[in-house]
Amino acid sequence: MNLMFKKLKILIVEDEKIIAKDIESTLKRIGHESAGTVSRGDEAIKQAMELKPDLILMDITLKGEVDGIEAAKIINETEHIPIVYITAHQDEDTIEKSKATNPYGYITKPLDDRDLNTAINSAIYRFDVEKRLKEAEERYFRLSENAVDMIYTEDAATSSYKYVNRSAYELTGYKPSEFYESPGLIERIVHPEWKELYNFCRNQILTGELPVPFEFMIVHKSGKEKWLNQRSVVVKDKKHNSVLIEAIVTDVTERRNHEKQLESTTEKLRALSNYLQKVREEERLHISREIHDELGQDLTVLKMDLSMLGKKALKEDSVLSMKDVVAEMKRINSSIDEIVNKVRKIATDLRPDILDKLGLVEAIEWHSGEFEKRTGIKCSYELCEQDFELNIEKAISMFRVLQETFTNIARHANAESVKVNLVNQNGFLSLTVEDNGKGITEEEIEKSTSLGILGMRERITLLGGMWHIKGSKDKGTKVTINVPLDAV
Ligand SMILES: Nc1ncnc2c1ncn2[C@@H]1O[C@H](COP(=O)(O)OP(=O)(O)OP(=O)(O)O)[C@@H](O)[C@H]1O
Ligand SMILES: [Mg+2]
Repeated sequence: MNLMFKKLKILIVEDEKIIAKDIESTLKRIGHESAGTVSRGDEAIKQAMELKPDLILMDITLKGEVDGIEAAKIINETEHIPIVYITAHQDEDTIEKSKATNPYGYITKPLDDRDLNTAINSAIYRFDVEKRLKEAEERYFRLSENAVDMIYTEDAATSSYKYVNRSAYELTGYKPSEFYESPGLIERIVHPEWKELYNFCRNQILTGELPVPFEFMIVHKSGKEKWLNQRSVVVKDKKHNSVLIEAIVTDVTERRNHEKQLESTTEKLRALSNYLQKVREEERLHISREIHDELGQDLTVLKMDLSMLGKKALKEDSVLSMKDVVAEMKRINSSIDEIVNKVRKIATDLRPDILDKLGLVEAIEWHSGEFEKRTGIKCSYELCEQDFELNIEKAISMFRVLQETFTNIARHANAESVKVNLVNQNGFLSLTVEDNGKGITEEEIEKSTSLGILGMRERITLLGGMWHIKGSKDKGTKVTINVPLDAV
């Protein structure tokens, strides 16, 4: 709305009746309306509060105890109404005194239409601009105070804080009041290792060479380390000197921690991949050695035995009886049986066919028995008797985890007994292996060289399952796996 054409309700405070009448008619002529005329200061206060006019024309010198300046002072305490003073003379002292009441203008008697119109319009214009400015300020203040980020304004020269919002407390542990009392507080709470970089970035900001965010670590009042990300704007004066730093600071600790975790996981996975490669090579070497040393030799002996037998039988003066041949054949036969057993053992090591033929429960039973025989560690088990649907990929993974767990027990646990449990519950197949050895420590679980453990965890996670290990000093270690069963 154009202010110039708004019809205003104006209160006239004037103790000279003729002038008051004159003002009233002037107001009418220039398109405004009188809200009433009063001649005393106390009446002016009362009417201002009751009528709430758009503007007050206030004579400075009034009869009675309350003059115009005093009345304006009291009105300003509760109301927000623009006041224009009417002065009869150029009394510098009086005008000086009136300035404390934030006047919106002065007009000198005798009044003329144009002067009055101009004084009213400029007062209303200023009043409206001030109102909008105040609303905008309040809006920004509300936004800033409700922001999750810390927002602050710092004097570039003295490092004193002009404004700090309340999120500063959450981010740093220090209240805004502590910032106001302690210039340069942020610089002081920057983590010692980051101080140099922080100061460098701050200087770059002030010289306008670092337009974008930078990240640094602080020590929160609680003693915890926090990562902050700061975006800054520098306010410069007319001579292009940096005067203020306005900054928005975000807590990025969680993101930084995730990044660190991701880095360490990537490192572990890289190590695991190398480890798997190595294991595969070692396994190949082992199999080729077994085939070469065991089977190769046995087959060579067999071949020699057979050719010897042939040669002996074909000799002209051969005294070989049928009985001798049968005895020799029997020996060769038992050698063949041994070779068959060795082949079976190699095949079983590569992939226990019991898993395909009889399923996971029997494979666990068989392997537990083998483990006890091989290591002398007593192995008891309680295995689920209900039928369940589990694809071969999951069964192999669970079996491999059991093998690695048994190997770990044999190598590290110093245990006397092991309990194996397999339960089918809530759509998951849950396998626990518990030994009574020395108990794995948290450091051993987390150390980046624990590739057996990492391999187990990865294997189960890949199947959508959960893997967990817990050690208790001198009481033992418990490995738990939960793998989702296949929908029937
Ligand atoms: N049942 C257990 N009882 C006590 N300590 C254990 C047990 N299982 C594992 N540990 C500890 O955890 C460590 C990590 O085990 P992990 O299987 O990852 O590696 P590893 O067995 O040392 O080597 P590999 O990579 O050949 O498996 C072991 O070195 C051992 O100190
Ligand atoms: Mg291991």
